[in-house]
Amino acid sequence: MDTNAIPTPERKKVIFSAIQPSGTITLGNYLGAIKNWVALQDDYRCIFALADLHTITVRQDPAKFRQNALQAYALLMACGIDLEKSLFFIQSHVPTHAELAWVLNCYTQFGELSRMTQFKDKSTTHADNVNAGLFTYPSLMAADILLYQADLVPVGADQKQHLELTRNIAERFNGVYGNTFTVPDPYIPKTGARVMSLQEPTRKMSKSDENVNAWVAVLDKPEDILRKFKRAVTDSEACVRYAEGKDGINNLMGIYAVMTGKSYEEIEREFDGRGYGDFKAAVAESVIAHLRPVQERYAQLIKDKAYLEKCYTESAQAAQRISQRTLDKAMKKIGFIKKAF
Ligand code: TRP
Repeated sequence: MDTNAIPTPERKKVIFSAIQPSGTITLGNYLGAIKNWVALQDDYRCIFALADLHTITVRQDPAKFRQNALQAYALLMACGIDLEKSLFFIQSHVPTHAELAWVLNCYTQFGELSRMTQFKDKSTTHADNVNAGLFTYPSLMAADILLYQADLVPVGADQKQHLELTRNIAERFNGVYGNTFTVPDPYIPKTGARVMSLQEPTRKMSKSDENVNAWVAVLDKPEDILRKFKRAVTDSEACVRYAEGKDGINNLMGIYAVMTGKSYEEIEREFDGRGYGDFKAAVAESVIAHLRPVQERYAQLIKDKAYLEKCYTESAQAAQRISQRTLDKAMKKIGFIKKAF
C-alpha cells in the first residue's frame, strides 16, 4: 500500500493532466480533452496545469507566449474548470516541477528518450532547434504527474508513450528506493470525440494546419464557425448516415452528437431526405450555441486580470505544498542532505 498518497477528505482518486498554452485552443482540444476534464471534477481530486515549461522546447515570441498563456488560462476557466473543486495552476509557478524533472532525468535512459515518437517527429519538424529540452520533455512530464501521486492521467493517443515512460520511471525509482511514487494509469474517458480536420477528415483537427478552414477555434466568431462547417469536405452520396468511408460526414455526426446528446440513429432520422447543406448548418448552429456561454465567460474573465492572478496564485501555492512533500521524500531517499531552512 502506498502510505504517501495525498490524503483527501473523500479519498477520491487523484487525476493529473496538463495542456500546453501554445496558441489557439481548437474545438478538437475542447471536445477531446477539456470537456472531459470539466466532467471529472466531481468524482476525482483533479489537479490541472498549464504546461508552459514544455512550451519553450519550441522557440516562443516572448509577448505572444505571455499572452497565449494568460488567454489559455482564462479560456480553460471559461470552459468550466472550477477552483472550488480542482487546482489549476501554471507549471512555471511551481518550482518543484523543474526540480523533480532534473532528478528524474538521472533515472531515465538515453535509449528510452530516443525511442519517443514525438521527439523523433519534432526533431524533423524543428530540425534547426533540436534542443536538450525537447529530448528530456518526457522526464518533465513524468515529474508533473508523479509529484501529485496521481492515480490516473487522461491523455490523448499522442501522449500515451510518454505516460508509459512515466510508469517505467516510477517503477524503476520505487524498485531502487522503495515505494515513493504512485504508478499512474491512463484514464480513458467513457465518451470523447476525436475531432477530425474539416478539410481532410482522415487527419486529426490541428491548429497547425495551414488551411484555417480545417479547424474551428473555441473563440471563433459565429460567422466563421458557420463558414468553416459549410465548407467542410463531405462526399457525393448526399445521405446523412454513419458509415465506413464517409469520414467527413462521420466527423460532423460525431460533433453534432456530442453537442446535442443525440444518437447517430436519431441524427440519421432527423436528416432523412435532407441535403448536406441543411446538416452542415445544423452542426454549425449546435457548435455556436454550445460555445456561446464559454465565449461570454471568457470575455468577462480576460478583462479581470486581478481575478485571474488570484486564481492561478492560490492554485500554485496549494500545488507547491502538495508537490514539495513528494520532492522532499524522493530527495531524502536518494541521500541528499536535508535542507535546514
Ligand atoms: N505534453 C502534454 C501535451 O503536449 C502536456 C502535458 C504536460 C501533460 N505535462 C503533462 C499531459 C502531464 C498529461 C500529464 O499534450
